Amino acid sequence: MSAAVPALAIESLQAGYEPGLLIVRGASLQVQRGEIFAILGPNGAGKSSLVKAVAGLVPISGGRNLLDGRDITRTPAHQMVFNGLAFVPQTENVFVNLSVAENLELAASVMKASRRERVDPVYAMFPDLHRQRNLPAGQLSGGQRQMLAVARALIARPSLLILDEPSAGLSPKLVDQVFLKLREVRDSGVTVLLVEQNVKAALALADRAAVLVEGRERVVATSAELLGDARIAELYLGRHTGKQGSPPPAKEPA
Ligand SMILES: Nc1ncnc2c1ncn2[C@@H]1O[C@H](COP(=O)(O)OP(=O)(O)OP(=O)(O)O)[C@@H](O)[C@H]1O
Ligand SMILES: [Mg+2]
Repeated sequence: MSAAVPALAIESLQAGYEPGLLIVRGASLQVQRGEIFAILGPNGAGKSSLVKAVAGLVPISGGRNLLDGRDITRTPAHQMVFNGLAFVPQTENVFVNLSVAENLELAASVMKASRRERVDPVYAMFPDLHRQRNLPAGQLSGGQRQMLAVARALIARPSLLILDEPSAGLSPKLVDQVFLKLREVRDSGVTVLLVEQNVKAALALADRAAVLVEGRERVVATSAELLGDARIAELYLGRHTGKQGSPPPAKEPA
C-alpha cells in the first residue's frame, strides 16, 4: 500500500452512548504510519469515547474510520484485532486471576497461533514478564501490569496499537519505563495512538498530538510545536490566559 495512506483516518466522526447525545462531535484526525500520536485534552473532552468508538466500543452515528485505507466504521469490537487494530483500555486490561503466561497464551489462542509463534517473541521484548510468567497478573506492579496489557495487545501483531491512558496511576519513573517500551513498539513498525492526561510526558513521547475539546480536535501539530504552545494551557483550562479569576502571576523580568 502506498505510503500516503494513513494508518488511521478518523473522518468527521460522531459517536455517543445515547441516541441524540453526541460525545464525539465531528472529530477528524489522521495518524501516519509509524508514528506515535497522542490525544490530549481536558477531563470529559471525549478522548476515551473517541478511541473507544474507533475500537468499535461506542456506537457511531456519523462519519467513518479507515484503518490503512479500509473502512472499519462498522467492524464489531471483537473483530478489530483481525483487521490489525489492538486496543488497550485504561482499566481491566489484563485477567488478574490468570498468570502472566496464561494472559499471553490466551491472546495467542484467540489469534489461533501457538505459544512459540506468538508468545515467545513477545517475551523477548518483555524479559521482565518472562521472569514473572507464573505470577498471577493481579500481583504484578502497576508498571508491569501495564507492560502485560501492551504485550497482550502485541500478540495480535497489530498495525495500529491504541492505548487509553497507559500512564494512569503510575509513578513518573514507571511512566518513563512504559513510554520507553512504547517507543520500542513504534520502532518495531507498529503505529501507536494513545490518549494521555500527562501532557508533558506525552509530548516527550509522541511525534504528533491533537488537543480534543468537546468532542472535536482543536489543535493538531507536532509535539515540538505543541511544547510551549500557549493554546494548550488555554484549551485545558477552558479559559483565556490572563482572564482567570485568580490574580495573574507575577511578571517575569524580560
Ligand atoms: N459509558 C458511558 N455512558 C454514558 N456516558 C458516558 C460514558 N462514558 C463516558 N460518558 C460521557 O462522555 C463524556 C466524555 O467522557 P470521556 O470518558 O470520553 O472523556 P475523557 O476525555 O476520556 O475524560 P477523562 O480525561 O476524564 O478520561 C463525559 O460527559 C462522560 O460523562
Ligand atoms: Mg478518558
